[in-house]
Amino acid sequence: MAAPAEFKPVIVGFLCNWCCYGGADLAGVSRFQYPPHLRVIRLMCSGRVDLEFIFRAFAQKADGVFIGGCHLSDCHYNPEGNYDALGNSMIAKRILENVGVNPERLRLEWVSAGEGIRFAEVMHDLSAKIRSLGPLGSSEGKPVPELQAGLQAATELVPYIKLVERERFRVPERKEENYHKLFGSAEFDKLFRELILDKLAMARIMGYARPQPVAASEIATGLNLPAAEVAQHLNMLAQRGMVKLDGNQVRVVAVA
Ligand code: FES
Repeated sequence: MAAPAEFKPVIVGFLCNWCCYGGADLAGVSRFQYPPHLRVIRLMCSGRVDLEFIFRAFAQKADGVFIGGCHLSDCHYNPEGNYDALGNSMIAKRILENVGVNPERLRLEWVSAGEGIRFAEVMHDLSAKIRSLGPLGSSEGKPVPELQAGLQAATELVPYIKLVERERFRVPERKEENYHKLFGSAEFDKLFRELILDKLAMARIMGYARPQPVAASEIATGLNLPAAEVAQHLNMLAQRGMVKLDGNQVRVVAVA
């Protein structure tokens, strides 16, 4: 869907204090022009950007999220936080895609404090991209409340995701190519589905059925999940005592 001409995207930008924020400052001092769509949040390091920050920004209707850090090997902290940002952004994109948010709405870039021009160029490019996607939900073809429900389920899962990331998605040596190799591998795909996406689907099902009993078929339609997959997750949730199945009706068991 084409963006309306007057669309002014809201892009939440997490900028590392030592590099990208300096680049943004230099762009301003040097009077380099760039679109005014970025809402800046200054952090000490791009590695501080928690998955939860990203999901919450989108849940609050940001049209885009930008993470700007020091170039790899230039991070001011040890171990280098920008490698954590790289891994987090790869995981976040997978989860965003799974809950229906276009992952191209999230961008990670390295910009040094001396790269004012580069900062302005990145902002031009990112703004153009987000404008072409339109407001959150338009390129996705989904209503925002539906995306928010998925983002809420993902946010609730963040502590678990971090645990899995630390234990199972460890990159052996901090090199950019190793991150692409691991996160692009078939083995990672399989683990990610088993360890995270299945849990996320169950969290989304719980969220969908929590307000009132609902038919399993309605859950499948509402969450755009295959009916067989929903049935499998419901059986698992019923075994754990988290839902009750009365015929085709699903009722979430209240936690005492
Ligand atoms: Fe800039 Fe770590 S201090 S990314």
